[in-house]
Amino acid sequence: MNIITDLELPGIPKVRSGKVRELFDLGDRLLMVATDRVSAYDCILPDPIPGKGEILNRLSAFWFQRFPHVPSHFLTADLDEFPEELQAYPETLRGRSMLVRKAEPLPVECVVRGYLAGSAWREYRERGTLAGDPLPPGLELGSPLPTPLFSPATKAQSGHDENIPWKRFVELVGTEAADKLHDLSVGLYSDANSYAALHGIIIADTKFEFGLIDGEIALIDECLTPDSSRFWPADEHRPGSRLISLDKQFLRDYLDTLDWDKTPPAPQLPPEIIEKTAARYREIFELLTGTRVTGNA
Ligand SMILES: Nc1ncnc2c1ncn2[C@@H]1O[C@H](COP(=O)(O)OP(=O)(O)OP(=O)(O)O)[C@@H](O)[C@H]1O
Ligand SMILES: [Mg+2]
Repeated sequence: MNIITDLELPGIPKVRSGKVRELFDLGDRLLMVATDRVSAYDCILPDPIPGKGEILNRLSAFWFQRFPHVPSHFLTADLDEFPEELQAYPETLRGRSMLVRKAEPLPVECVVRGYLAGSAWREYRERGTLAGDPLPPGLELGSPLPTPLFSPATKAQSGHDENIPWKRFVELVGTEAADKLHDLSVGLYSDANSYAALHGIIIADTKFEFGLIDGEIALIDECLTPDSSRFWPADEHRPGSRLISLDKQFLRDYLDTLDWDKTPPAPQLPPEIIEKTAARYREIFELLTGTRVTGNA
């Protein structure tokens, strides 16, 4: 398997290097390449997760194509449809890259929560609220919420993203866009969760990013991947007890056992943690798509 952590494509300008993805400028479009880098607590870890880039890219492509009614940046993930200048890099690009339309990213993260976990659980445990709004009493870690909740966050340039109340969200994007982002996000989450349920998976929560393309709101970045979502096996799910996760939570749980202050440099991972993380990414991909990872990328 071809493991990629850093990437240059001679002659093709790079516009952005995120924690996981590299974006290249193709003039009117972008090439988005998912590396095998993994981040946790906003730090890039020194070890890659083999196969991860391909899984993120193919799972995002799968969801973008499942939701043709939602405008998105997705054009194609088929190497044969890539422009001539990219045909020189089949080993590097196959499976892990897609062509997308250029967008102006909105400065918010559109989180939808169907279940109580992560930062929402921490706030609820301390104050009984989510972004300041009260939730019903008696919920446990992993409890379903009465209805899926839109739970936006800021897209912090540095430091951790922060959950924000609806009022702040409206200030950041405007009333009209706020309503649209809410409806699109909750609709996408609900459709995806219904689909996942048929495959024995709960989508506990997920984060969408949107941008403006020709002035219109469109879904961008990645979609419903194990980096952006919490996936739980439905048959083993018991609120209040230890949660089994088919996503990045396994890695966070391991990191929480270490004496690491969550600032760079991040610690190296033992081989068995790398392999178990990779196995979880493969498993969720195969359960959701019904296809195996090719290992081509
Ligand atoms: N169609 C698009 N047009 C422009 N930018 C995009 C598009 N899709 C995704 N992006 C941006 O590309 C980056 C994707 O890379 P990645 O997910 O690795 O970054 P990140 O580390 O999560 O984010 P950041 O670099 O903003 O901290 C994000 O900054 C995302 O907002
Ligand atoms: Mg990202």
